[in-house]
Amino acid sequence: MEAAWSYLLHLEDEGEKPLDVVEEPLDFESSETLDADEQLLHLNDGAKLIICMVGKPARGKSFMAAKIQRYSEWLGYRARHIETVSVRRKLFGRVEPDDFFNPNGAEMATQRGAAQEEALKESLDFLQKGGQVVIYDASNSTRERRRWVTKYVEENLVDKTDNSHNIVKYRLLWVESICENRDLIVQNFLELRKTSATTNFMEYRDLDNEQATAKFLEKLRFYDEEYEALDMENEADRQLSFIKIVEFSENLMINRVRGYMESKLVSFCMNIHTEPRAIILVRHGQSEYNLQDRIGGDPNLTEAGDQFARNLAKFVEERAPHGLQIEDDEMVSGSDAYSFNPGKDLFVWTSTLKRTVGTTKYCKCRANVQWTALGEIDAGVCECMTYTEFKTKLTSQYMKRQQNKASWRYPGGESYIDVKKRLEPLIFELERQRKPILICSHRAVLRCLYSYFFGISIKECPFLPFPLHTALVLTPTSSGWNEERIPLAPNIGDTGAHEQDVQAAAAKILKSQAKRRKLREETKK
Ligand code: F6P
Repeated sequence: MEAAWSYLLHLEDEGEKPLDVVEEPLDFESSETLDADEQLLHLNDGAKLIICMVGKPARGKSFMAAKIQRYSEWLGYRARHIETVSVRRKLFGRVEPDDFFNPNGAEMATQRGAAQEEALKESLDFLQKGGQVVIYDASNSTRERRRWVTKYVEENLVDKTDNSHNIVKYRLLWVESICENRDLIVQNFLELRKTSATTNFMEYRDLDNEQATAKFLEKLRFYDEEYEALDMENEADRQLSFIKIVEFSENLMINRVRGYMESKLVSFCMNIHTEPRAIILVRHGQSEYNLQDRIGGDPNLTEAGDQFARNLAKFVEERAPHGLQIEDDEMVSGSDAYSFNPGKDLFVWTSTLKRTVGTTKYCKCRANVQWTALGEIDAGVCECMTYTEFKTKLTSQYMKRQQNKASWRYPGGESYIDVKKRLEPLIFELERQRKPILICSHRAVLRCLYSYFFGISIKECPFLPFPLHTALVLTPTSSGWNEERIPLAPNIGDTGAHEQDVQAAAAKILKSQAKRRKLREETKK
């Protein structure tokens, strides 16, 4: 250990003057220009990507679009999801007339066209001001409409970041969702109606589920009349770059898909689905190193850690019949949709380290899988050091890390960006799984996974609060994930030399997240 230290001490001597402790060293508002983002964008050719959704209502378009946006952001792209439905309801009122989608109604057609144009304009605006991936979420249901979109982009996408007004390099990718399974469509509609009740679907407000479904299916008839699916047999469609997803990834058709990001999206789309299932994220129980405030290593659990392991197994068993969702009976699909039998259904994923394997050893499960990718951030020469040692003997390194934790790499080890990169195959596998999964891993890794689910920027990710002895239950909603944090005994608290710094930074993140959430909600109104 001493040898490893001396390497860093040498860095301390050689390096610039140790940084002063700055009062407010972190600026979470300006994450857009962080070079950490650039580091994630390996192989990007600079072209903007416009993803245009295609499909009738309640086919999971917005669900997919939201996932694509979060995945793109997770890869480091500045990405946005723009929903025509929100723009439309903002422009023309929350209550849609029954004949809004009637292709023969001139007034409604004008309103629909205006909303589509406004949403597309907003999408291009985002790209023109530095955005890299935009998901234009509209039905784009006819060839004529798709031709219009193509032409509008061609004519209007110019660079506005300077005064050059140069044509921006871009690629257009169509993503179509086809689903004719009535049960799935209805389930999707009911879920959407519930989760977006305050912003959309106001015309269904006073109806019960049966009446609302009947009204909705009636509206869909207008779409059936004019809908033109993307078709390999059609000469015009064959010229387009598209991914066609049938029955939520039962079947996938790909045409003229090129580019690094697009090829990633093909595999991503192959894995996503809308089936309800719970994911539990949990850190290992308290380890001997947690007690000593040491970094990394492969320590055993303490007695308290072992007690937590028993309580975790009990928690899963007691709540599995309720789908883990007993506190939130507002869940749209109902608790039943999430209920499971741990011995038969539950997958347990751990790292290969003793403390995560030990934490899940009492859990009944269908299968227990150890992933090296779930191993804690490799602290290189700092492995097994205490935080006090790191902080006092290697002050400038510690400060540099705190100031740029996302891309600061432990000498001989990893940065948070490295951790994110190694987690990518696991993300795909997580999306693909239809069974409940319990992931028992480590603080840095769980922060990265959490960032994926909740669209947290890479700059904020390394400071996310992730206490020991707390189970985090995630359940999918129509636009993302619901989260419930459940503290489990014994309560040991997180103490140590590093904890205060992390918590101070986390408090700032929460504040800036709340601010952004408020802003988003205000713009949606
Ligand atoms: O302290 C526990 C621990 O899991 C370490 O092993 C790991 O290096 C660290 O947390 C990650 O947290 P941070 O990035 O805040 O140091």
